[in-house]
Amino acid sequence: MKTGVDSIYIPDEEQMLRAGQILAPQLTPWLQAEPPTATPPGALVFLHGDLGAGKTTLVRGLLRAYGVSGAVRSPTYTLIEPYEVAVGPSQRRLYHLDLYRLADPEELEYLGWQELLADGGLLLIEWPERGAGWLPAPDLRLSITMQPPGRTLKLSGHGAWQAVALKTLFELEKPSANVRKLDNFQVYC
Ligand SMILES: Nc1ncnc2c1ncn2[C@@H]1O[C@H](COP(=O)(O)OP(=O)(O)OP(=O)(O)O)[C@@H](O)[C@H]1O
Ligand SMILES: [Mg+2]
Repeated sequence: MKTGVDSIYIPDEEQMLRAGQILAPQLTPWLQAEPPTATPPGALVFLHGDLGAGKTTLVRGLLRAYGVSGAVRSPTYTLIEPYEVAVGPSQRRLYHLDLYRLADPEELEYLGWQELLADGGLLLIEWPERGAGWLPAPDLRLSITMQPPGRTLKLSGHGAWQAVALKTLFELEKPSANVRKLDNFQVYC
């Protein structure tokens, strides 16, 4: 069954940062299980979009919401940038990946992404297409498309993550968000 899909217009960079900031506290399936009571669940988030679409900008906003200060570099060459973020009283790991320069999907194995996920990490992956056949379906999928002068952001998720997608869009739609909702609202069932 396909899950709900929806989109919203993000007019500029500032609002894209804000989208990341709004998304951060909505990631409840990842946020709620806190170690050390149990192995916390990891989460896989795909960020789709052309070169310069705004994927890193959104991640930057999300990291800021988790208290990461200073420069958030694009992992274009390093492929992966790790972060430790405070979630309530615990520290959780978050990884920002950019697979654009992945020479071969097999290289993914060397990044050890399965272990990072199994260890409760949140993996935010730009250019997941480059890992096709090696990565499972994501929990949450974000797709950014150019719509000059701004961008369209789509979110979709499976199971509990569908609610995350819808709640994030709901929060983004609030008038104070200063973002315009697209007329072509779409829901696939
Ligand atoms: N909603 C938006 N409207 C207009 N410009 C935006 C928006 N979001 C981000 N930008 C701008 O798009 C440019 C590229 O952003 P960013 O580096 O985040 O793209 P990217 O998708 O990560 O690209 P790449 O695939 O190369 O990693 C930046 O200059 C940023 O200011
Ligand atoms: Mg990027």
